[in-house]
Amino acid sequence: MKNVILIGAQGKMGQAALTGLSSHRVITASRSGKGCDYQVDITDEESIRRLFETVGDFDAVVNTVGFCEYADFVDMTEQQWMTTVMSKMMGQINLVRIGQEYIADKGSFTLISGILNIKPIPMAIADATTSGAIDTFVKCVAYELPRGIRINAVNPTVLEEAWDVYGDMMPGFEPVPGHLVGKAFERSVDGFITGEVIFVDA
Ligand SMILES: NC(=O)c1ccc[n+]([C@@H]2O[C@H](COP(=O)([O-])OP(=O)(O)OC[C@H]3O[C@@H](n4cnc5c(N)ncnc54)[C@H](OP(=O)(O)O)[C@@H]3O)[C@@H](O)[C@H]2O)c1
Repeated sequence: MKNVILIGAQGKMGQAALTGLSSHRVITASRSGKGCDYQVDITDEESIRRLFETVGDFDAVVNTVGFCEYADFVDMTEQQWMTTVMSKMMGQINLVRIGQEYIADKGSFTLISGILNIKPIPMAIADATTSGAIDTFVKCVAYELPRGIRINAVNPTVLEEAWDVYGDMMPGFEPVPGHLVGKAFERSVDGFITGEVIFVDA
């Protein structure tokens, strides 16, 4: 059994990840802290550091948070870009940058990206771009992490549980059930792989 910090636990992706973490002690966190053990804002370095210091011993961080703005490229403002970059890209990179100081030897980080960098759709340029950045980040930073620490990204297509929200934006896509995406998080946390992007597509 590992101590796993799950960030974004009450979200749709967090609930999917949770299905793959049943053999572990899961410590939950989110921005509001509602229904979770801890409050954390992944866009705030101090908040991230406070979470890791308060939790103490942990073997894995699973992040399912990455807020994205959706608009056509020609209408996207710099502010919308920065909001997305500071959450889905830098927020996740900062979790690893700061978290590697605190995580146990041979611990693991699992980040979230999303299939739109492979299968683009209208209005999702910021999500696609930052998902691509996260996929690249895990592949490359895996070579640099100390103490046997591993890192992977889960890159899922749309969840069945989110189809009512995103289905109209995604003609020709087939959603996947949350428990299948949970298996990808399980493979990252319980396996020995590192520097991988684990795709879950239909
Ligand atoms: N849903 C899908 O089908 C799907 C598919 C592929 C990829 N993804 C990716 O998965 C990620 C999560 O999507 P989702 O559908 O799970 O969203 P969601 O249901 O809206 O949940 C978002 C979660 O993130 C937390 N959160 C937001 N901003 C935060 C911050 N700054 N610091 C800490 N926690 C924060 C929220 O916490 P509070 O409620 O406490 O604010 C909530 O728990 C996104 O990057 C999305 O692109 C989603």
